[in-house]
Amino acid sequence: MIDEQRPILVTGAAGFIGSFLAARLLDENRAVVGIDNLNDYYDPALKRARLSWLLPRENFRFLEGDLVDADFMRQVFSTFRPRIVVNLAAQAGVRYSLENPRTYVDSNIVGFLNVLENCRATGVEHLVYASSSSVYGANPVMPFSTRDNVDHPLSLYAATKKANELMAHSYAHLYRLPVTGLRFFTVYGPWGRPDMAYFLFTRDILAGKPIDVFNNGDLSRDFTYIDDIIDGVIAVMEKIPAGDPDWARDGASPASSTAPYQLYNLGNNRPEPLLDMIEILERVLGRKAHKRFLPLQPGDVLATWADIDDLRKATGFSPKTSLAEGLERFATWYCDYYGTPAKAGGISAAGPAE
Ligand SMILES: NC(=O)c1ccc[n+]([C@@H]2O[C@H](COP(=O)([O-])OP(=O)(O)OC[C@H]3O[C@@H](n4cnc5c(N)ncnc54)[C@H](O)[C@@H]3O)[C@@H](O)[C@H]2O)c1
Repeated sequence: MIDEQRPILVTGAAGFIGSFLAARLLDENRAVVGIDNLNDYYDPALKRARLSWLLPRENFRFLEGDLVDADFMRQVFSTFRPRIVVNLAAQAGVRYSLENPRTYVDSNIVGFLNVLENCRATGVEHLVYASSSSVYGANPVMPFSTRDNVDHPLSLYAATKKANELMAHSYAHLYRLPVTGLRFFTVYGPWGRPDMAYFLFTRDILAGKPIDVFNNGDLSRDFTYIDDIIDGVIAVMEKIPAGDPDWARDGASPASSTAPYQLYNLGNNRPEPLLDMIEILERVLGRKAHKRFLPLQPGDVLATWADIDDLRKATGFSPKTSLAEGLERFATWYCDYYGTPAKAGGISAAGPAE
């Protein structure tokens, strides 16, 4: 059904996750409004390339603008009056937040406030927003559960994501704005983010350059394939929280409330050692990695592992893509997009690199 009257607003629509979400929603015949400021945190050409497959689609409108720009945001909401908003625009990246703290507060705090304010003012039926596994910070309990305490972030990025959860709760409580936060766990796949380890490793392995392996390789991540993430976001979008009147009696979980507020982990439920990830990349790229072992980076956590039982129960969510399958698809895309031969001696259809 095409809901022209009240579209779905996707912020960060030129981003990795936002572009895949917009594409899936358009496939389902939903009207989508996308906004993005196309900033240069990483190559804006990749953002424009993602947009180039969305822009020709009927039912898609794109506006270039900044979450921090209160007038722009007011105009977007009052013009399109979205029914559901999925907030994916943010300054992402853990390490960058050590050198550029201010951009995190701008996009992730001031920008998110503009999203909340406009959702409230225009009667949005459900705000779904990206949080992050990084909020677990120094939490030592595995797997990470939304019932755990997350008061010990290890980076300002994580602190802004935790702040989003608190801000969302206050709006759910004060204005009964239904909000669902999704803590994404290391999302990867074709068209992914060039600042992430699997992407940097691929680039450097193909270029014959050494790769930086932090904490001497003793790290693990719950890698979650982009299609599984989109399945989770779509499932949650129509699951509008109503608030649990028995919340206090049921144990007062941090993941729910008497207010229409819900938090879920969205991960693969499978921690993979970093060294296994590198081995898979070596196999799919047909090249050996030259590993440079380095100490742990400030801000990094040792391991992530998503407990997804609550999301499974609520929506039937079940991730389907193994790391080997997902990285193979990523490598195929990478070689095609950047024109780098994957297998030693092989030539990709897109011609030589750089
Ligand atoms: N990719 C992951 O592994 C991961 C993990 C946890 C959480 N997240 C969160 O998921 C969301 C999407 O992540 P992604 O990997 O697609 O990142 P991304 O950087 O590819 O996408 C974010 C998009 O938002 C845009 N943007 C940033 N600040 C903006 C602003 N102030 N105004 C308008 N547009 C702005 C950027 O230009 C970018 O296109 C982010 O909130 C991120 O923090 C991602």
